[in-house]
Amino acid sequence: MGAYREAYERSITNPTGFWRDAATAIDWIEPPDRILDDSEAPIFRWFPGATLNTCHNALDRHVQNGRGDQTALIHDSPATGVVRTFTYRELRDEVALFAGALRRLGVDRGDRVVIYMAMVPEAVVAMLACARLGAVHSVVFGGFGARELAARIDDAQPRVIVASSCGLEAGRVVPYQPMLDAALAEAAHTPTHCVILQRPQAPATLLPGRDLTWTDAVAGAEPAGCVPVSATDPLYILYTSGTTGRPKGVVRDNGGHAVAVAWSMENIFGVRAGEVFWAASDVGWVVGHSYIVYGPLLLGATTVLYEGKPVGTPDAGAFWRVVEQHRVAAMFTAPTAIRAVRKEDPEGKLLSGRDMSSLRLLFLAGERLDTRTYEWAGELLGIPVIDNWWQTETGWPIAASPRGLEALPTRPGSPSVPMPGYRVRVVAPDGSDVEPGREGAIVLDLPLPPGCLPTLWRDDERYVRSYLSAFQGAYLTGDGGMFDADGYLYVLGRTDDVINVAGHRLSTGSMEEVLAAHPAVAECAVIAVADELKGQVPRGLVVLRDGDAASPAELVAWVRERLGPVAALRRIDVVAALPKTRSGKILRGTMRGIADGRDEPVPATIENPAVLDALRPVLRPRR
Ligand code: COA
Ligand code: AMP
Repeated sequence: MGAYREAYERSITNPTGFWRDAATAIDWIEPPDRILDDSEAPIFRWFPGATLNTCHNALDRHVQNGRGDQTALIHDSPATGVVRTFTYRELRDEVALFAGALRRLGVDRGDRVVIYMAMVPEAVVAMLACARLGAVHSVVFGGFGARELAARIDDAQPRVIVASSCGLEAGRVVPYQPMLDAALAEAAHTPTHCVILQRPQAPATLLPGRDLTWTDAVAGAEPAGCVPVSATDPLYILYTSGTTGRPKGVVRDNGGHAVAVAWSMENIFGVRAGEVFWAASDVGWVVGHSYIVYGPLLLGATTVLYEGKPVGTPDAGAFWRVVEQHRVAAMFTAPTAIRAVRKEDPEGKLLSGRDMSSLRLLFLAGERLDTRTYEWAGELLGIPVIDNWWQTETGWPIAASPRGLEALPTRPGSPSVPMPGYRVRVVAPDGSDVEPGREGAIVLDLPLPPGCLPTLWRDDERYVRSYLSAFQGAYLTGDGGMFDADGYLYVLGRTDDVINVAGHRLSTGSMEEVLAAHPAVAECAVIAVADELKGQVPRGLVVLRDGDAASPAELVAWVRERLGPVAALRRIDVVAALPKTRSGKILRGTMRGIADGRDEPVPATIENPAVLDALRPVLRPRR
């Protein structure tokens, strides 16, 4: 039996033994005695009764164990032309100081801190400082606008918000302060303070009494030590798009997260302490949480924080420059990023002359990996390309080829096989398993392994309703797919309103809510259509109120202002009517099919076929 099969089977037949062993990689204050608490099923808790501090595990223990002078963090910012490195000792000291600053502002164990920052080292420092105090961070992606930020502020109710004054996009400065001010004006909750990292590209105007600069916050602060927390205490909340406009507050606990993410670094990503790991993502997404910040640091590796894009900063050779300069051993990004590079440099000319000998593996996730991109990257780099499938909710891969355990061969179109701890099934609507080769809903049998969400922030009921109600005893992933005869999984797409635009998870439901709130809009629908570069892009269809006027450009700007630039809803068509079923349901699936260039039949349940016929020329892809 191969090492993968052996580990997988043990994780299923003896999960407590498997995770008890994995937990030895973590420093505990009170080591785990009981491994799983199932007394409140379907809500499960890993390592009840144990205590630890995640920041100690990510920083202090490495300093104590002789890694103090090793580089922990490399901030590489083509946006500013700066490369800055922090050793484990330096990063620990910065974090302890900022934790002291937060404490002076009243942040205590269990309090929430919202972090709304660009890809700057201070974002990592702020996250780890929260972990140090036992406070709960909630990072909001910088590409989100005021409404999204306000929704998160109201749900998390932070004592303090930490923001940078601006972000730097390719060729453009994005001031964050106007978004923060608008969000705070909209939110019912008010934090006691906002700490603003002033960046020279666009310093913010501070509101006296509420705002203070990062520099003032840390001046004279007393460095704080690590506060012991329960393994089951929340480490962070990360909001993610669901089917409605209200984002879901995914909770990550301290103990299960540390154990699972550390295990994945070695066994899935095949990385060792002292090596350089680079996740070219953003700290605002789950990939950034698990594999820019916590994973590499829990392991004692060096992590790269890249404030740039795959293209345009300055060109499509940027990724190869970073790999060479920092001797990256394994890299993680989204398929979109590789497609963007291929589009600009299809022959890989910008790779020539680069010393890529350090790079062993390329991991891709966040959206479906198309065969062309998989093959192009593999041929160009001459290294294994590992598709891996997971979600904000799980925090680490559900399916992958576990490079540290065994180099299982990969197959195009498949993120390979279920990882230890995950009992993955493909089911029919009645919950029965479907045969290999047939499609169904992908579910995970409960309990989920450590590291996965125990619940939604202060909303067990919504957690159970959204994820655990469709199939008894199982977690609904929201993805559809199938197994092949050899147990390789194929993930074919979401079965709900969640879409993936350039590796960013967004909700068409939330875009519809914003559009519907425009005074001129009577009715609307947002659908996702296939896009060669971004995988999917949203398209809006709007019916205006009688006598009202609004141009598509005005509606696009309306959505962008509220949801943020990342919403990427660039095409809206004003139409006379939307096609519906006789019971009033908008036929989004049919419209989507036509927009993707398929010959969609007229559904039998349609109320008025003429409405659909009138829409066909509007929906059809432009050649
Ligand atoms: N702050 C402010 N604005 C942001 C932002 C941020 N952190 N991130 C993105 N935006 C803006 C972009 O500037 C863009 O604005 P524009 O409409 O004025 O051009 C808009 O949001 C849409 O961004 P995006 O969809 O990312 O498109 P893009 O054309 O800027 O870049 C790629 C395309 C492929 C280069 C980019 O999407 C990319 O690098 N994708 C990889 C995604 C990734 O790492 N995902 C994480 C999961 S692993
Ligand atoms: P997020 O929560 O942002 O990580 O997005 C999770 C969703 O992205 C999943 O539910 C999938 O729909 C999609 N996804 C992520 N990785 C993959 C992958 N490797 N293959 C197919 N879809 C993926």
